[in-house]
Amino acid sequence: MSIKPLIILPDPILRQVSKPVERVDSDLRKLADDMLETMYDAPGIGLAAIQVGEPRRLLVIDLAKEGEEPAPHVFINPEILESSGQRSVYEEGCLSIPDYYAEVERPAAVRVKYLDRDGKLQEMQAEGLMATCLQHEIDHLNGVLFIDHISKLKRDMVVRKFKKLAKEKAPGKMVG
Ligand code: NI
Repeated sequence: MSIKPLIILPDPILRQVSKPVERVDSDLRKLADDMLETMYDAPGIGLAAIQVGEPRRLLVIDLAKEGEEPAPHVFINPEILESSGQRSVYEEGCLSIPDYYAEVERPAAVRVKYLDRDGKLQEMQAEGLMATCLQHEIDHLNGVLFIDHISKLKRDMVVRKFKKLAKEKAPGKMVG
């Protein structure tokens, strides 16, 4: 397993729409394992493949708290079948938008179908943090970020800040 570099805002890769996974094979499982290791290292609770530069419909989630046994979930080609009318608000963050958090309102529960890491079709009825996390990660597969769900004013501020940071970090011009 290896830790992969994370794609950070405003990298346009994050706006790509990821392609369906056609085959669940050892290469894909290796990518899922690398994503889990990258996510644990960050640390984070969810990661979509596009965040490590792979435009494939694959995401990993582990909601286990510190001190609890790891509970890794791999979702391949996840699709939301149903969303509850009831909504809930969570403070969200994103490994591609480090150190920024904002409250986002989403459906409180979702029913999702997906392939597991063995390529077996599964369905999950998710609520609470799992429902929010799944929606956040599935958004990534469609090029959508959690800041797209906050006010334009706040979003513009965040994007401006990260553009400035990216510029400062870019390799400098040759001088002399
Ligand atoms: Ni994210």
